Amino acid sequence: MKVLVIGTGGREHALAWKLSQSNKVSQVFVASGNVGTAKEDKIQNIHLTQHADLIDFCQKENIAFTVVGPEAPLAAGVVNDFQAAGLKVFGPTKQAAQLESSKDFAKAFMARHNIPTAAYQTFNNADDAHEYLNQKTAPIVIKADGLAAGKGVVVAETMADAHSAVDMMLKDNKMGNAGARVVIEDFLQGEEASFIVMSDGVNVLPMATSQDHKRLLDGDKGLNTGGMGAYSPAPVVTDEVARRTMDEIILPTIRGMAKEGNPFVGFLYAGLMISPDGSPYTVEFNCRFGDPETQPIMMRLASDFAELIEAALEERLNSVSAKWKDETAIGVVLAAAGYPENVKKGDEISGIDAAEKTGAKVFYAGVADKDGKTVTNGGRVLCVTALGKDIATARQNAYVAAEKIKFDGMQMRRDIGNKALNR
Ligand code: AMP
Ligand code: GLY
Repeated sequence: MKVLVIGTGGREHALAWKLSQSNKVSQVFVASGNVGTAKEDKIQNIHLTQHADLIDFCQKENIAFTVVGPEAPLAAGVVNDFQAAGLKVFGPTKQAAQLESSKDFAKAFMARHNIPTAAYQTFNNADDAHEYLNQKTAPIVIKADGLAAGKGVVVAETMADAHSAVDMMLKDNKMGNAGARVVIEDFLQGEEASFIVMSDGVNVLPMATSQDHKRLLDGDKGLNTGGMGAYSPAPVVTDEVARRTMDEIILPTIRGMAKEGNPFVGFLYAGLMISPDGSPYTVEFNCRFGDPETQPIMMRLASDFAELIEAALEERLNSVSAKWKDETAIGVVLAAAGYPENVKKGDEISGIDAAEKTGAKVFYAGVADKDGKTVTNGGRVLCVTALGKDIATARQNAYVAAEKIKFDGMQMRRDIGNKALNR
């Protein structure tokens, strides 16, 4: 069968790469893909973005199913449009995608269903928000309601920072529509982890556990980013934490969405804060796989990914299981100069082949081919991903490979996986 992946990043490279390994899959198309997907056997990029053009393509090519990578097309209703055309597509509808596209929707939903998360209130008026802040203490978290490409959250260390974040969003409209409504929530203490599952609307199949590194610099310092590296499994998610996350967060969410008439089909990503006593709280929901979590998780997947997607689209995820390699996988992101603020493009990249010769897999994101050269073309450029028999070996393998790659101003965290190593 032929399948389609929508998206252009490292996540989509990894999803397409894994799908291409299925014996059932003859060809994976990626819209629009990147330089890395273009190089893979059985994978071909197509340069279409409009829903109508994609639907037309799927019908002409007899595409068996489509997997949607990023949140933007989901929030724009690509699944609704594909379904209306009678096409099979794995992802939530626009309504179900509100778990990510509106923080207020997600918080109100969690309150209705007793799902553990930080206490909060929503405001669309700066004066009311300031008054609420006057009853609170720092640290406190200010979140733009809408999609803001990872830039909509301010973890304020002082009340002065909190008040200025409110003004930035509600008075000065610096976040546009996304910041026209603001969620203010209590700060949660603990260690973060990513808990990602597949859902067919009724049944849930958990993916392997993982942990992202959201800050730019070593030691979780510096600006928030889309993620500077991830590893799987994440030992902070013990069997007991996983069981509680399923019982207290994931299953109530899937049941609640179904009950409210918005069944959630797709990858559901709960960003967890695991408190010092081992209780999981929901920091956020994403309605898609994580980037860069996808890269190490797909490296560990030993099952036929296409079969899992087919099972999900036939509402029989309860009849399949996902097998994972016993090894640990680590993905180290190489980011462009200036990321995450003023990304510099066009720097020549060397050493990708040498990195892959070490046995690592290099997933591409912000890369372009220009005049016969491979150059940077986005914030997160590459994700160098390696397996190892344990966390220390996987780290070693990933960094040996990553060291082979060079470009001007390259940014890379040196401590991916340290939290697991120190456990
Ligand atoms: P979000 O986009 O909601 O995941 O927030 C981005 C990052 O801000 C998270 O990964 C956390 O590191 C941090 N964060 C968000 N909400 C909270 C919270 N209530 N308590 C502590 N940290 C938070
Ligand atoms: N790595 C965080 C995310 O995908 O949202």
